[in-house]
Amino acid sequence: MVGHGEAEGFIIEGLRRLEYRGYDSAGIGVIDKGGALHRLRATGKVQALADKIPPALGGSTAIGHTRWATHGAASDDNAHPHQAGRVLVVHNGIIENFKTLREELAAQGRSFTSQTDTEVVAHLIDREMQAGSDPVAALKTVLPRLEGAFALGVMVEGETGFIMGARKGAPLIAGLGGTEGYLGSDPLALSGHASQIMFLDDGDMAVIRPGAIEVFDGQGAGVTRKLVPAETSHVLAEKGNHRHFMEKEIHEQPEVIGRTVSHYADAFENSVHEIAGLDFRSASRLIIVGCGTAAYAGEISRYWFGSLARLAVEVDIASEFRYRDPVFLPGDIALFISQSGETADTLEAMRLAAAAGVQTLALVNTPHSTIAREASLVVPTLAGPEIGVASTKAFTSQLSALACLAVLAGRHRGHLDRAQEAGHVVSLLASPGLMVKALEREGEIEALAQEIASHPTVLYLGRNQNFPLALEAALKLKEISYIHAEGYAAGELKHGPIALIEEGLPVIVIAPHDALFDKTRSSIQQVASRGAHVIAITDPEGARALEGEAASIITLPKGSQLTNPLLFASAVQLLAYHVAVYKGTDVDQPRNLAKSVTVE
Ligand code: G6P
Repeated sequence: MVGHGEAEGFIIEGLRRLEYRGYDSAGIGVIDKGGALHRLRATGKVQALADKIPPALGGSTAIGHTRWATHGAASDDNAHPHQAGRVLVVHNGIIENFKTLREELAAQGRSFTSQTDTEVVAHLIDREMQAGSDPVAALKTVLPRLEGAFALGVMVEGETGFIMGARKGAPLIAGLGGTEGYLGSDPLALSGHASQIMFLDDGDMAVIRPGAIEVFDGQGAGVTRKLVPAETSHVLAEKGNHRHFMEKEIHEQPEVIGRTVSHYADAFENSVHEIAGLDFRSASRLIIVGCGTAAYAGEISRYWFGSLARLAVEVDIASEFRYRDPVFLPGDIALFISQSGETADTLEAMRLAAAAGVQTLALVNTPHSTIAREASLVVPTLAGPEIGVASTKAFTSQLSALACLAVLAGRHRGHLDRAQEAGHVVSLLASPGLMVKALEREGEIEALAQEIASHPTVLYLGRNQNFPLALEAALKLKEISYIHAEGYAAGELKHGPIALIEEGLPVIVIAPHDALFDKTRSSIQQVASRGAHVIAITDPEGARALEGEAASIITLPKGSQLTNPLLFASAVQLLAYHVAVYKGTDVDQPRNLAKSVTVE
């Protein structure tokens, strides 16, 4: 916030509202009425920070942040804002190339006081200012050097006339109210203060002054973005410039997966953290149970636990598992996946395993839910509240956490050496940046949606880990567009679904250029030759190979074994979303469905 007086009060209130985004440390930078800078940080809840703030600062300019430890442990030193010279920075997301930048800055004699990726941003801006740039020019010069997905808030000691922000793949909102200017990662923080808000576009940088917002696009050119009256209702305001929560949540994924991966992985060491109480060394089997989308996340991870850790995995949907008198073996670990943490069948399945003396892990998005409370160990997904009934960001957040757990299991069981582990972690840390690029395909996907919307049936095909993703893709389309959709293992094509193929039937094939690409390609040829309208979702190499074979090709960036399902999920989510919008269904609250199924 920049304006007149009590900026610290506004920041603390905003941080309390955003505590759901992270709550292991918080910090504030504030210029008081006498012009002095205070930087205060505290481990723990926002209240711990509030207790540290001296009375009657009368701050005019302030930035603040609440944190889930990503790069570096939860400590006062790692809490934001980070400072270099006069520059203070708060940041959401991941700066992927921070190590290279840090080495470059260290070689110039700069020293670092934290283990975060954020601190390099403060140094880069400070370096430009030391070289004579004004702060706005300095930030403009620095932004193109940052890779990954991020939202930044910047203030400069001694400057009470402005604060700055920038976004790429993570949300950022500017606001005006009276003679104040505001910046926040969520309209919720600004609500009740800003009378007008501005949703910055991806790639934008903004300079917020009391009563005025100046915006520059990714090329540094001045642009105008719409100021809209702030909605009085939080719920309306939260949707931002998205038509539906589902669309907003799809676009939050770079930030969400970044937050989740960085919670489990150490970007300095390129390793995954140990989790107290979790040991895969002596595990004989991993049982994974969930419902709906959560169960599909479990199905995908089966391929990872198998190939990275040689760990036998059994995946079941909770309503089947709990009534089939399941066999438990010594050394079983049971993992229950649930966004809400309240799904009745999943909860009862977990109770059954617990009663059999099996260690129960809960992969949940809601930390105080029943499943979280009753499990022996909680492994969180950090997706934040998911409002759209059809799960999107919770799914990719589950996949991100499962990928990290599979790497941990691989290390525990001696199947991944140091270099292999590092390779997997590096690819996971790159996933937010790749997801930003994948989401840029939205225009092409939207164009295909209209064609699909006119068909009564759609078939999704995939092999290996793309098979459960095909099931999830079909589920998404069914849930929100009410079009009958089936997901099939491409290898099963000849055992039934090929009979469905007729002229024009949309067949959506999840076809990254992986080890089984040629087999998937032959499935494409078989359905295309029978008249199917093949939409191939692939990567650049796959796209070259499929030229002339698939009627439509969506080209996503090249990912890895662990990151491909994240990237490909975003494409199938966008496709389902735009088909539903075209059909005019109630996207966020589809008929007959509930977000959380707390009864059988
Ligand atoms: C419902 C929701 C789905 C969700 C499933 C499991 O069917 O509509 O989106 O995947 O429940 O919910 P949970 O909260 O346990 O992940």
